[in-house]
Amino acid sequence: MSHSYTGFVSAQTSVREVVTHSAEETIALGRSLVSILMPPKLVLLRGDLGAGKTTLVKGIAKGFDAAEEDNVTSPTFTLIHEYRGFRVNIYHIDLYRIDTPRQLETLGLDDLLSENSLLLLEWGEKFSRFVRERDVEIQIERLGETERRIRIVT
Ligand SMILES: Nc1ncnc2c1ncn2[C@@H]1O[C@H](COP(=O)(O)OP(=O)(O)OP(=O)(O)O)[C@@H](O)[C@H]1O
Ligand SMILES: [Mg+2]
Repeated sequence: MSHSYTGFVSAQTSVREVVTHSAEETIALGRSLVSILMPPKLVLLRGDLGAGKTTLVKGIAKGFDAAEEDNVTSPTFTLIHEYRGFRVNIYHIDLYRIDTPRQLETLGLDDLLSENSLLLLEWGEKFSRFVRERDVEIQIERLGETERRIRIVT
């Protein structure tokens, strides 16, 4: 990891920026995010297909002792994966295939919100509600084959 940078966009918003050079570095970054992702939180993971959102979740789940990296897979078809740690229930959600408010309703995400919940949403920005309600936004941008710029906005 390199070029760690922290800036303040306004009194309320802080942005931390990191460039990773491999999936392993992105996983390591995920593991380091535990303190800023303490439940309850709603987190938007933003980035193109293959940017590294699910890869980052591998590190986050490991950091919370909720899952081993290899057991964290994309919820593309299953839509929600749950990983339970000590006092944390991680819900990894992929809304790529969800298009209508009615389909979203069917998922029952509101029922997942609790004191111990950490909701990690891929493609959550498709619904303005989540853009408004998110506690943390993580943006991943592909710079090259294995380089990713990752911005953590809190
Ligand atoms: N620096 C890096 N950080 C993260 N992933 C990387 C990096 N370099 C290469 N990769 C590779 O890029 C791919 C990222 O895939 P991943 O499933 O995490 O993307 P995603 O953003 O979740 O995509 P989708 O929207 O399709 O779910 C993996 O194959 C991973 O090994
Ligand atoms: Mg994914």
